Amino acid sequence: MADDIGLFEALHTMRAMRRLKPDPVPDGLIRRIIAAGLGAPSGGDVQHWRFIVVKDAAIKQQLQAVYKKALDQVLARYESNPPPPGKTEQQKQRMLRAVVYLTEHFHEAPVLIVGCLVGDFAASIGLPKMSGASIYPAIQNMLLAARGLGLGATLTTRHLLYEDEVKRILELPDNAETFAILPIGYPVGKFGPVSRLGLEEVTFQDRWGTPYS
Ligand SMILES: Cc1cc2nc3c(=O)[nH]c(=O)nc-3n(C[C@H](O)[C@H](O)[C@H](O)COP(=O)(O)O)c2cc1C
Repeated sequence: MADDIGLFEALHTMRAMRRLKPDPVPDGLIRRIIAAGLGAPSGGDVQHWRFIVVKDAAIKQQLQAVYKKALDQVLARYESNPPPPGKTEQQKQRMLRAVVYLTEHFHEAPVLIVGCLVGDFAASIGLPKMSGASIYPAIQNMLLAARGLGLGATLTTRHLLYEDEVKRILELPDNAETFAILPIGYPVGKFGPVSRLGLEEVTFQDRWGTPYS
C-alpha cells in the first residue's frame, strides 16, 4: 500500500510535486492529511490554525488568477537569480518550468488546502518573528501525510503577494491570515530522493563556523 512507507522514507522523498493529475482525491484521505496536521505543535498549544479545503471549481479558478498574477510579478527575477545552492542552472530551469506549470494548472488540482491562523499569537506575546511558526509545523505534517498516502503536494506561499485578494475570495474574517496553499492530487511524476546541501555544509558544533564532528 502507498501509505506503508516509513517516516524516514517520507522525509527523504517528499519533493515538491507540482504536476498533479486532476483525478479526485477521496475526502477520507484529505481528512487524514488534516488530522496529521493537527498533530503538530502550536505556540502555547493555542491551535489557532484553521484550514480551508477548496474543491469548488469557481473558487479554485479565482485563486489561480491571484497566484498567476503573483508569479508574473516575480518570474523575471527568478529567471535571473543564480541557481539555488548545490544546483545547476539546468536544474534551476527545470524547477522553474515546474513552477510555471503549477501556476498555469493551479485550479486543476483536485484540492487546495489553505492554511490560516486566527489572531496574531506571536505578536500578542511580543514575538512577531515567530509569526507563522504555529502553522508551518502543521503544514509540514500535512505534506508528509500526503506523501505517505501517495499524494503529491507543494507548500506554496506566493499568493501572499496579493493576500488581501485571497482573503476576500475565501471570506476570511479580518483577524485571520493565510500562510500557505497546498495544491494536492495524485502526482504525474514519481517520488524520489530530495537533493539538499550536505549536513557538514550547514551544521556547526558549539559555535558558528566550527565543523560538527
Ligand atoms: C516557505 C516556502 C515557500 C514556498 N513557496 C512556494 C511557492 O509559492 N510556489 C512553489 O511552487 N513552491 C514553493 N515552495 C516550494 C519550494 O520551492 C521547494 O520546497 C523547494 O524548491 C525544494 O523542492 P524539492 O523538495 O522538490 O527539492 C515553497 C517552500 C517553502 C519552504
